[in-house]
Amino acid sequence: MAKMTVKDLDLKDKKVLVRVDFNVPVKDGVITDDTRIKAALPTINYILEQGGKAILFSHLGRVKTEEDKAGKSLKPVAERLSELLGKNVTFVPETRGSELESAIADMKDGDVVVFENTRFEDIDGKKESGNDAELGKYWASLGDIFVNDAFGTAHRAHASNVGIASTGIPTVAGFLMEKEIKFIGEAVEEPKRPMIAILGGAKVSDKIGVIKNLIPKADKILIGGGMTYTFYKAKGMEIGNSLVEADKVELAKELIEAAGDKLVLPVDSITAAEFSNDVPTEEHTGDVPEGQMGLDIGPESIALFAQTLEGAKTVVWNGPMGVFEMSNFARGTIGVCEAIANLKDATTIIGGGDSAAAAEQLGFADKFTHISTGGGASLELLEGKELPGLAAINDK
Ligand code: 3PG
Repeated sequence: MAKMTVKDLDLKDKKVLVRVDFNVPVKDGVITDDTRIKAALPTINYILEQGGKAILFSHLGRVKTEEDKAGKSLKPVAERLSELLGKNVTFVPETRGSELESAIADMKDGDVVVFENTRFEDIDGKKESGNDAELGKYWASLGDIFVNDAFGTAHRAHASNVGIASTGIPTVAGFLMEKEIKFIGEAVEEPKRPMIAILGGAKVSDKIGVIKNLIPKADKILIGGGMTYTFYKAKGMEIGNSLVEADKVELAKELIEAAGDKLVLPVDSITAAEFSNDVPTEEHTGDVPEGQMGLDIGPESIALFAQTLEGAKTVVWNGPMGVFEMSNFARGTIGVCEAIANLKDATTIIGGGDSAAAAEQLGFADKFTHISTGGGASLELLEGKELPGLAAINDK
């Protein structure tokens, strides 16, 4: 990455502003998945070891009204961070003002401050999400250096990432940002071959950009999940009651045409009469009969995908193969995870979101080289788009 990183600056005695992505799931005040907090620890620990003062901030959820604030405070996140760091973390329940400024003024080297959800600034005129210049300037004024480690938010141009950076404050990447860009960027732009992409999920419309970008770059693109049936429809096959995006059938035809034999579609499906784990399932090769809906790829497809994956040196996976949350329709996703886990000397990457949750839930998380912490951000990177949060970081 030709971007400056936290290693390129002297941090001693510096007030280091750190944009992290602490947008974690919180239920009744309890964090249900702290992966993103853990992923930010290397950067935070490094700043503290170097004698810097770490001022951390993040968004959490989407906040448009005063009512939306409920359950979206970063306080539980600051508490969890304190446990993980094994040291005191000062939480400031505001996004600007005298309490925040004096907490920062009182900091000693090695101290950590977390301030409130940056999107609380959205209530009064979308200042954070609209990248309000004054807000970016104010936050930049609180520190000497800006470290952007929020990969998960890099596809947004908000005041807390792009706004701060555009004030001219020295802006560098944190270790998580560096790692994410390295793995996903290299997998797409200079992969060890064969490079195989596995794309699933419900909708073709979510993956059009990725499929288009990967057709010239990947050696094979395996398709699974609900979007299979829009491709089936494009091939003139019967799909019963399966999910279909009628307005994307023409586009699916074009993608089939453009990809040629690179595109590998499932050859069979596990189906049911209802979207439920409590009704009998059926197995169908090819067409899905009337009254049935395809909810997972079938055993022949698992075998075909495993065979296609043999010898792969780079695998990028985004989107589950079926409704993995229901045990009757999890086998396809498990099968693909197993095939990836069996690869030797391959760089295997999960592009965040649902597939990361699937690998975690199905017990395969430790079998991958890299699981991205970004959903939308990794998808945009796979689409070949420039991420504004990354672009705003100083070049080396
Ligand atoms: C994410 O969870 O993908 C990031 O934190 C970005 O969140 P957003 O989609 O609300 O901007």
